[in-house]
Amino acid sequence: MNPINPINPTNSFMKQKRIHIVTMGCQMNVYDSEQMLRILAPLNYRPTSQLDNADLILLNTCSIRKKAEHKVFSFLGRLVRMKQRRPHIIIGVGGCVAQQEGYRLIERAPHIDIVFGTFALGRLPTLVQQVEDQRKQIVDINPRKGSEPLCVGEPVLKAGRATAFVTIMQGCDNFCTYCVVPYVRGREVSRKPEEILEEIRLLVESGVREVTVIGQNVNAYGQKNGHGCDFPTILEHVSNIEELHRIRFTTSHPKDLSDRLTEAFCKLDKLVPHIHLPVQSGSDRVLRRMNRGYTRDFYLKKVARLRNVRPDIAITSDIIIGFPGEEGVDFDATVDLVRQVGFDSLFLFKYSDRPNVAAAKFSNKVPEAVKGDRFSTLLEVQREFTLAKNKALVGSIQEVLVEGFSKKSRNQLTGRTPCNKIVNIADGADGMARVGQVLPVRIVEAFSHSLLGQHVGKGYGKYPGKNGGMSYAA
Ligand code: 5AD
Ligand code: SF4
Repeated sequence: MNPINPINPTNSFMKQKRIHIVTMGCQMNVYDSEQMLRILAPLNYRPTSQLDNADLILLNTCSIRKKAEHKVFSFLGRLVRMKQRRPHIIIGVGGCVAQQEGYRLIERAPHIDIVFGTFALGRLPTLVQQVEDQRKQIVDINPRKGSEPLCVGEPVLKAGRATAFVTIMQGCDNFCTYCVVPYVRGREVSRKPEEILEEIRLLVESGVREVTVIGQNVNAYGQKNGHGCDFPTILEHVSNIEELHRIRFTTSHPKDLSDRLTEAFCKLDKLVPHIHLPVQSGSDRVLRRMNRGYTRDFYLKKVARLRNVRPDIAITSDIIIGFPGEEGVDFDATVDLVRQVGFDSLFLFKYSDRPNVAAAKFSNKVPEAVKGDRFSTLLEVQREFTLAKNKALVGSIQEVLVEGFSKKSRNQLTGRTPCNKIVNIADGADGMARVGQVLPVRIVEAFSHSLLGQHVGKGYGKYPGKNGGMSYAA
């Protein structure tokens, strides 16, 4: 890399440049955006929160649903005028839409300088340098070379942050008939366990107290890479890291939820009692057409087993509404399953066709108006469950890992319970010094998306020192 000359600030290599990254989509993209910042730092790019003064603007895109893809094009539209005003800026589009569309992106939006697909992340510094030097447009949607690591750069350390995502695997081999992921993220690849553990250790040293290990289907971790370590085993290793308080993971496929993983919820103290287990539909006929590899009954048995092992476990899920061929009876079966399980919360998505996926060619597409009606019906059913579950916590004392100030006010701290409920804490007196601490908090009020609580004891964690156990004395 170019050496930085501290004596000659006019050296063009010295000139500090600003990078602004817009991250769309899932946690994998959040993690990838942090990697982009890290690997572009040696080219003298420093992050800026303002779009208007950035020299390099990167869009990290998502193509899971049509709506996500529309967002990319409307954002690119906003950048046309900016590029006319400030022609020196470099615009790069990465992530899943980049991988999917490649050259077509530049045809549609000629003000883009770089299109870099999901496998080109490690090559980003070279691509940026090429554009800086030669001012040419570049498209790199080539596959990852065997020798290239899955995650690039040193881990991004999070001073002042209590939580972090860590990618442990990427891609998916399942080919659910609605899903674009196998096409834009490729087949399953797992990171080496020692690399993951080292990254988490460094994060913990920098103050992180909760990690969420992420992947498209974490249950498949290590199944085909021969690292000699499967998902429950890597969780066990992670839980041995001192000073780490909590482990979360997402996302898991119900068909791969093994008994060993279920038992980990009882065995590993640091593994929080929360699982995101996307069911997608409550109708066997639809599940079959989705190629999900399980039945409604199988799913319900997995839920029962989880609750048997860990009665307080929070279960959340994803549901697709209006999958091609979904009839009234199928939708009724989904509503019935939702009532039967009583999820803590649900993410509902109206089905949309995606490029290359099998379901795009299925007949009997469900009209948008019908999808809209079903969406509202299910939303209403779930709203009651979510609120009732939150209300049931009023009066209880919850362990809240403090993440920072609440969005509403700097007089309030915010954090999450082990079950992933957001809690705003009325007393924010100690401010950021509390970040990373686990506080005992009495829940005083429940809303549909959050809880309000009162801090009632000393807690434990980074400040004032090592884990001292929870003290409930106020
Ligand atoms: N249409 C609608 N929702 C989709 N999802 C994935 N593909 C589609 C699609 N084509 C939803 C699934 C998945 C979540 C991340 O996005 O519910 O679990
Ligand atoms: Fe997509 Fe299915 Fe893989 Fe999940 S398991 S990423 S829904 S193909």
